[in-house]
Amino acid sequence: MIAHLNDGKLWDGTSFEEVWFIKTYRNVATLRRVLEKGSHEANVFAEIPDDGIEQSKLMKLPNAKIGFSKAMSAGWIQVDKSCVPPLVKKKVPEIVDTVQEHMNQIIKGDILNISDKDKQEYKKRKLIQEVVVKSFNLTKGPDFSLTLTKLETDLTSDMLLAGSWKKLKFKDYNFEALGAPLESGYLHPLVKVRSEFRQIFLEMGFSEMPTNNYVENSFWNFDALFQPQQHPARDAHDTFFISDPKVSNKFPMDYLERVKKVHSKGGYGSQGYGYDWKIEEAQKNLLRTHTTAVSARMLFKLAQQKEFKPIKLFSIDKVFRNETLDATHLAEFHQVEGLIADYNLTLGDLIGVFAEFFKKLGITQLEFKPAYNPYTEPSMEIFCFHPGLGKWIEIGNSGVFRPEMLLPMGLPEDVCVIAWGLSLERPTMIKYGFNNIRDLIGPKVDLAMIQRSPICRLNK
Ligand code: PHE
Repeated sequence: MIAHLNDGKLWDGTSFEEVWFIKTYRNVATLRRVLEKGSHEANVFAEIPDDGIEQSKLMKLPNAKIGFSKAMSAGWIQVDKSCVPPLVKKKVPEIVDTVQEHMNQIIKGDILNISDKDKQEYKKRKLIQEVVVKSFNLTKGPDFSLTLTKLETDLTSDMLLAGSWKKLKFKDYNFEALGAPLESGYLHPLVKVRSEFRQIFLEMGFSEMPTNNYVENSFWNFDALFQPQQHPARDAHDTFFISDPKVSNKFPMDYLERVKKVHSKGGYGSQGYGYDWKIEEAQKNLLRTHTTAVSARMLFKLAQQKEFKPIKLFSIDKVFRNETLDATHLAEFHQVEGLIADYNLTLGDLIGVFAEFFKKLGITQLEFKPAYNPYTEPSMEIFCFHPGLGKWIEIGNSGVFRPEMLLPMGLPEDVCVIAWGLSLERPTMIKYGFNNIRDLIGPKVDLAMIQRSPICRLNK
């Protein structure tokens, strides 16, 4: 039997046909017996004399058991129970040994006339077995050749001038092929996530703050933010102080005086901290520990304008902290900072802005936890439910800037400023699946990772 499976063409046009031959093979020893001496049932039939034979005698023949039952079911023989002992007698005068005939045909390879039912039967009787032989029919195609010619990949001006292009064989274009990697710089995942954040802020009507000063002084980084001079964050363990130049000397002096006063004596309805505020402490240069230092500078500038105009500002840039390095902390990282200055803003506005801001990041489940910052009251830590990680994670810190911070700047009393800050590394690690921040930035970064990392769409 032949089963046709597959047709195809090879590169040179050779066509092929995959065929299975199901060959019927003989089971040699048994088959030879049947061929020479007839089938088992024919042997049984031949052994029976016209007046019958006792079954026990008949059963002494080789393969008598199967022969007897086959002869019975073929209706060739019968058992006469009226005799004692009962005799096996012929029921028909003569028989045709079809089994033997079929076996004769099979050894000649002629199996077409044998029904599937019979084949099954012969298989069961172990007269035949079937073996599948797979083979291919190959026919030479139009481009058949015993040598491989290298196909041309480019059409050159020389070919055109010499006319050789007419005879040359050209390689087909492979439209499935991926493009060759570009020999260019690649954007780091942090840069990609940053441009997404920037896009969200711009869509929401925010303007970007200038953050091009990594070196800041303690006055703008801490004092302007109503952070007392004894605050532990102002320790060298938490902050990188600059040794050269060690101090800043240029300050808006009347504002500085108001800051000094609110720290030491209070004012604007606040009792202050009641300590001896020193300009020497405020003068110390440092690497900014947060971009809220930039926010402070911007708000001060805003307060100097003749007329207050509501404003929305953001920044995404580097900050520096003297941290113990581990899988999630680096001494330098990026902050995403946003603030809105307007009349009579409330905590409700802050929460409302978050709902919109985080929705654009694809985050809809938010929770808040009361927190403490020297410069905000109330303050809230922001938690979001991360469906991928299946848990609540802290993503930011926020609050309403204190009057002790805003009023010395000269902002109107009914102006409120709501603000928040996030790290850029955290969402980047989640988005790109990094567990260790050192795989993302630092000397151990795999540059191939930067080349491979896909574009970022935060809300997808
Ligand atoms: N500056 C805070 C930080 O470094 C973030 C923050 C910004 C908090 C603005 C409140 C308001 O974590």
